[in-house]
This record gives sequence, C-alpha cells and structure tokens, in this order.
Amino acid sequence: MLRRLHKDQPDAFAFTPANLAWAKGQISKYPEGRQASAIIPLLWRAQEQEGWLSRPAIEHVADMLGMPYIRALEVATFYFMFQLQPVGSVAHIQICGTLSCMICGAEDLIGVCKQKIAPHAHDLSADGKFSWEEVECLGACANAPMAQIGKDYYEDLTAARLAEIIDELAAGRVPQPGPQNGRYACEPATGLTSLKDHEKGRMAHNASVAAAVALQDTVKRIDGTEVPLITPWLGKAPAKAPEEAAPEESTAPATQSAAQKPKALSGARGGQADDLKKIKGVGPKLEALLHSLGVYHFDQIAGWTPEELAWIDDNLTGFNGRASRDEWQAQAKTLAAGGETEFSARVDKGDVY
Ligand code: FES
Repeated sequence: MLRRLHKDQPDAFAFTPANLAWAKGQISKYPEGRQASAIIPLLWRAQEQEGWLSRPAIEHVADMLGMPYIRALEVATFYFMFQLQPVGSVAHIQICGTLSCMICGAEDLIGVCKQKIAPHAHDLSADGKFSWEEVECLGACANAPMAQIGKDYYEDLTAARLAEIIDELAAGRVPQPGPQNGRYACEPATGLTSLKDHEKGRMAHNASVAAAVALQDTVKRIDGTEVPLITPWLGKAPAKAPEEAAPEESTAPATQSAAQKPKALSGARGGQADDLKKIKGVGPKLEALLHSLGVYHFDQIAGWTPEELAWIDDNLTGFNGRASRDEWQAQAKTLAAGGETEFSARVDKGDVY
C-alpha cells in the first residue's frame, strides 16, 4: 500500500506536559548517541495524543531525538500501526482481512464499515466519529473473523454484531471485547471435550477480556493518566503524573533539593585529564560535558557525595541521570585506584569505538 503524508497538515505539534515528561523518560533509557532508539515509542505517543501522525509531529519527534527528518519519516511511513491521516474521534476500526478471517466473513464486516462509516478505508465517517481499514492477520485466527477496535479485539464477529458494536460506540458505550458468540476464549465452537478442569471456578471472562472490562478503555487513548513511567535512574522517583506536575520553573525533583554542586577544577591537574571514556556510559559528548563542569579525573567522580552526584545527574543536560544509572562512581573508584574494569579493559584493547 502507498503510504503518504496526509494532504492537510496542522501548523504545529507539541507534546502535552505529561507526554513530554514521559517522552523524556523514554529518551533517558538509551545510552549517549543512541537517542534515536526512542523513535517508535515517541511516535506512538504522539499518535496517541493526536489520534494520527502529522508531519509536524514526526518532525517534532525527529528534532527531539536529533535525527534527520527523513529518518523519522522512514519509520512513520514503514509501520502500518502509524496512522498518517486523521482517524475517527471515537474509534478507528481495523478489520482483519487475512485468510481465516476472509474465509469466515471478513468481507461482510468490511461491507458494514463501508456502509456505516465510509465507502473507502481511511476516510472519516460523515460525523467524524469513525474510520476503518483492512489490516493483515492480527493473530486471533481461531476466533475469525475479528476486528481490533482501539486497544481490544472483538472476535467471532458477524456483520450484524459489528453493526451493533459501532452503534454502541457511537452512543458512548464500550461494548465488551473478546468473542462475540459466547465462546470463553478460543476453545472449539462446540465446547471443550478434554482438559476441562479449568472450567471449574474460572473467571467470568478470559484474562484479556477481564483486563479490558476492568479498564473500560477499549477506545480510550493513552493520555498520561496511566501508571507513570518509572525512571529510577532519574532521581530514584517515578516520573510525576501530569496533574501532579508543577510548572517547570518551580518544579524541583525530589533529589534536587539536596543537590549540591561538586568542587570544579579550572583545568586538568598537570594539564593531563584522565580518559573519562573508560567509564562505561561516558562517550565523547559526555566527557566534554564533564570537562565543562570542571570534572577531569576519576578521583573527582569517585569522591562525589550523594548530594554532589544528584547535582551532576541533574546537570548532565540531555543525559540527565546517567551518572547514577550507569554507576560511574563504582567504576571511577576502581580506576582512580589504578585498577581496571571489564569495560576499561575493552577500551584499552581498542574494542570500544
Ligand atoms: S486471519 Fe484474521 S486474525 Fe489471523
């Protein structure tokens, strides 16, 4: 399928404060120089925020990760999970059209979508609430035909049941996902003939449906109110939920209140700095950043107090939290004492570039 950017694009894109905090947490997972590894989660978050991926959103994510726009565009246009055009405000319905589903009635389901939503895939319904597309096998072939709506699977569908589901969603209700013909999971349609012990005392729903029923979030997009991303390397505390986050200028991470700038040197002692790149996690950029902070030697790092370590973590712009996360101090203590670490031995052998 030809995947192109939509002809109508918004002027700009910006993450909400909650999503921006989450995105920064994702970026901080990756080592120096590897921030581009966060491209898929960030694009996905942008899509969850807006419903689809606009060009400004793709370029915004590329800017955050220091990537050329074309690299981000390659990712966004390659993966079909990224919607390159606006989707329905209530739900985007993905009908599986692969073998099992096609044999069992996928064409009828697509007919319902054409009739109730729009004649062509990816077009919005007249009220803007729905859109649809045909997708490849979603791995629920034993429950064919099926559709993914929002985060959940609706299985063992008939055309009539899909039409009802669309009507329920339009009315603001969340239909129960899972098999729609009374099946518990993907047992034979005529019922189990063996291994029936688990039927005694089982839950009302299979695990997937039970989770969906509990969350009631089939068509809800991720909006930052979920369990916050845990980033213990960023000050040993989970990222704050959006409602709790104070304005940036008045916000101080828990560790920052106790943070204290370590004594800085104006230059390397004797004009000869230690090779800080022997510390795993410190590359050329971070070494230059450390020099700019007055840090040139292993013993300086080894001697930081917890408050000084917190200050360094907070001031590694773009790499916040790396000193704690990569345990620089333990490595620096060994190196300052004239020893070597597994990583520094590899550096000495020229195995690290
Ligand atoms: S063929 Fe439809 S889920 Fe596999």
